[in-house]
Amino acid sequence: SRTAALIPAAGSGTRLGRGPKAFVEVAGLSLLARSVAALAPWVDEVLVALPAGSDLPPGLLARAVEGGGTRQESVARLLADTDADVVLVHDAARPFLPGAVVGALLEAVAGTGAATVALPVADTLVRGEGGLWAEGVPREGLWAVQTPQAFRRELLVRAHAEAGAQEVSATDDAGLVARLGLPVRLVPGDARLFKVTTPGDLALAEALARVWDA
Ligand code: CTP
Ligand code: MG
Repeated sequence: SRTAALIPAAGSGTRLGRGPKAFVEVAGLSLLARSVAALAPWVDEVLVALPAGSDLPPGLLARAVEGGGTRQESVARLLADTDADVVLVHDAARPFLPGAVVGALLEAVAGTGAATVALPVADTLVRGEGGLWAEGVPREGLWAVQTPQAFRRELLVRAHAEAGAQEVSATDDAGLVARLGLPVRLVPGDARLFKVTTPGDLALAEALARVWDA
């Protein structure tokens, strides 16, 4: 069976404020280059959704498609461009992806058909109201969802079609599958898989890269 990595990388990076985020470099390597390099050894092909008008940087072993206006639309376009049996969807904005996590995820998807990397929540949770503590939220059983996420392709195609038909929008793909009532396996993730979203995250990434790249 064939596996494709689908990398949505078409966002504009508004919160980071450094232009399209996938091209932002951490210790001399772009977020996109880091994500492609982490996934390439595990899959038969790598597809990347890029902002309109941009080209794949030289040296990346991947195929590019034009992204859409939302992450969901970018993933839908990537999905339409592969016939692999299994797809592994990963944000370009999560550049530190340990190989062991990919291995565990692929094992899980072979069983369940859908799986996501996620981290059990460690902090105390509270619902705030007007800047005040309104009500504590028990964290038992709560996970923070990360990527990569893996699916039998036809399953994710169906989930996207349903979401499109019902005008449902989501910031991840596992949620679209789960709302069909299908099982999604939670695979323990890794703190290093944080998404580079704000300037503070980029500073954290620079610090982590010194260890990661050594
Ligand atoms: N993404 C995409 N197409 C879009 C929007 C987002 O492919 N239309 C991708 C981003 O490139 C990123 C991932 O989805 O790899 C997660 O999105 P996010 O962290 O929100 O990135 P941006 O949308 O670029 O950032 P912001 O929301 O701050 O503008
Ligand atoms: Mg965004």
